[in-house]
Amino acid sequence: MKDLGYPERTIELAKIAGYLHDIGNCVNRTDHAHSGAIIAYNILKDMGMDVKERTEIMMAIGNHDENTGTAISDISAALILADKSDVHRDRVSNTNLSTFDIHDRVNYAVTDAELKLDAKERKITLNLNIDTKLCPVLDYFEIFMDRTMMSKYAAKYLKIWFELVINGTKLL
Ligand SMILES: [Fe+2]
Repeated sequence: MKDLGYPERTIELAKIAGYLHDIGNCVNRTDHAHSGAIIAYNILKDMGMDVKERTEIMMAIGNHDENTGTAISDISAALILADKSDVHRDRVSNTNLSTFDIHDRVNYAVTDAELKLDAKERKITLNLNIDTKLCPVLDYFEIFMDRTMMSKYAAKYLKIWFELVINGTKLL
């Protein structure tokens, strides 16, 4: 957001939304975006944040899940792009490969992930390296297609182009 020239306070609100966005998982994974939005709103209210700002953060958190949300503001679009690009081996806490589900397998197979913005060209690229001995690229799309399309729409909201490159091949 800094590179795209957003004001410092907007960037700060996006950071707070990013920090708090998954807080709803303390209630339940299902509908965590909605429960989290309300929890974050109340925390920020108790901390004395201005109503307009805490509503902005509530809306961003409440719209970050690909099943129910979409980019509805600049900070929500930034949150979506950051969250949906967070795919990497480091995310897998299960160390027993024989018990991996498809999510574990795909995340574990991603050995490198980089989200790079070219502010001048208004283009953002998610560059992934997938170890295809562990997981075919198709498995990535099986579970991340919705997230990919959500990222594409979020980028469009910010008037930037979203590209996905896997193992050196431009797929989107
Ligand atoms: Fe989430």
